[in-house]
Amino acid sequence: MVVHATQRYAVVTGANKGIGLETVRQLAAVAGVTVVLTARDVKRGTDAVASLALPNVVFHQLDVQDSDSIRSLVDFICAKFGRLDILVNNAGASGVIVDEDSLRAMKIDPATWLSGQAMNMIQGVIKTSYDKARECLNTNYYGVKRVTEGLLPLLKLSTYGARIVNVSSLRGELWRIPNEQIRKELGDIETLTEQKIDGIVDKFFHDLKNDMLEVNGWSMMLPAYSISKATLNAYTRVLAKNYPNMCINCVHPGYVDTDINWHTGTLSVEEGAKGSVLLALLPAGSPTGRYFDQTEVAKF
Ligand SMILES: NC(=O)c1ccc[n+]([C@@H]2O[C@H](COP(=O)([O-])OP(=O)(O)OC[C@H]3O[C@@H](n4cnc5c(N)ncnc54)[C@H](OP(=O)(O)O)[C@@H]3O)[C@@H](O)[C@H]2O)c1
Repeated sequence: MVVHATQRYAVVTGANKGIGLETVRQLAAVAGVTVVLTARDVKRGTDAVASLALPNVVFHQLDVQDSDSIRSLVDFICAKFGRLDILVNNAGASGVIVDEDSLRAMKIDPATWLSGQAMNMIQGVIKTSYDKARECLNTNYYGVKRVTEGLLPLLKLSTYGARIVNVSSLRGELWRIPNEQIRKELGDIETLTEQKIDGIVDKFFHDLKNDMLEVNGWSMMLPAYSISKATLNAYTRVLAKNYPNMCINCVHPGYVDTDINWHTGTLSVEEGAKGSVLLALLPAGSPTGRYFDQTEVAKF
């Protein structure tokens, strides 16, 4: 292993397509940055690396739901680079089953999507199942935690001061959760702990199982996805508090035209990746424990 002090090493999760792939492209364009493009599927990942054709992008398999896969990535980075400077937790799952043809036929305009007014219109075509909700939380919240915990020992060795970027969503903004108690718990950084956040996830699954989401005031617009991102934001703040020498932030990439929203988004992936890249390259002394709406600090 050759250690280069002037090099920065980055990992991007879920990077075989969409915002993740573009984040790799933009990071790799910066002098001295080497990027590990990760994907859960080897073929999709190696095809993505081949499509970029950049000498400073390498592939490693990573399924954020699979502990063995995470361990293998950690071992790879440890052996090849000896440290990590940038982690972009980008992989995401929607938590729903969708009748895409019917959804397209509804021709819902972007403003209706963004305001949340589409909520009632989509109930017949976008359904939350228990299994899909599990997959969503296991990817967007527990997946991020698992990957971050695995890579933290290498991030602590960063000579630049590590940067962690958690790709969130406006669906996770606290004002969108009708239940005041949940809003308060997730929003109070003084008392917030990982155990408390996990407890809120458990409550969500209890209510989902018992058909009590609406009556107990969970966000009904993509319920699993919304709480996965709200808990991700809360986790970001706890982590930032625990590691004050790093810059650890979360970001809503904008409403981007990708598979995760069935191509209803309006922004290009080039625009969508800007926030992640900005936060990945923050200079020393920059904000930490913040939520960004694209490239601007916003309210949790
Ligand atoms: N597009 C938007 O408007 C928007 C808005 C707000 C937030 N976001 C967030 O932006 C991030 C990127 O999404 P996108 O819009 O680029 O959607 P996308 O094109 O569907 O990309 C999602 C990526 O996540 C990967 N993934 C899913 N489960 C995984 C797992 N268990 N392990 C590893 N990778 C996994 C997918 O891999 P496969 O190809 O193998 O499925 C894919 O590479 C997500 O966190 C999403 O929630 C997007």
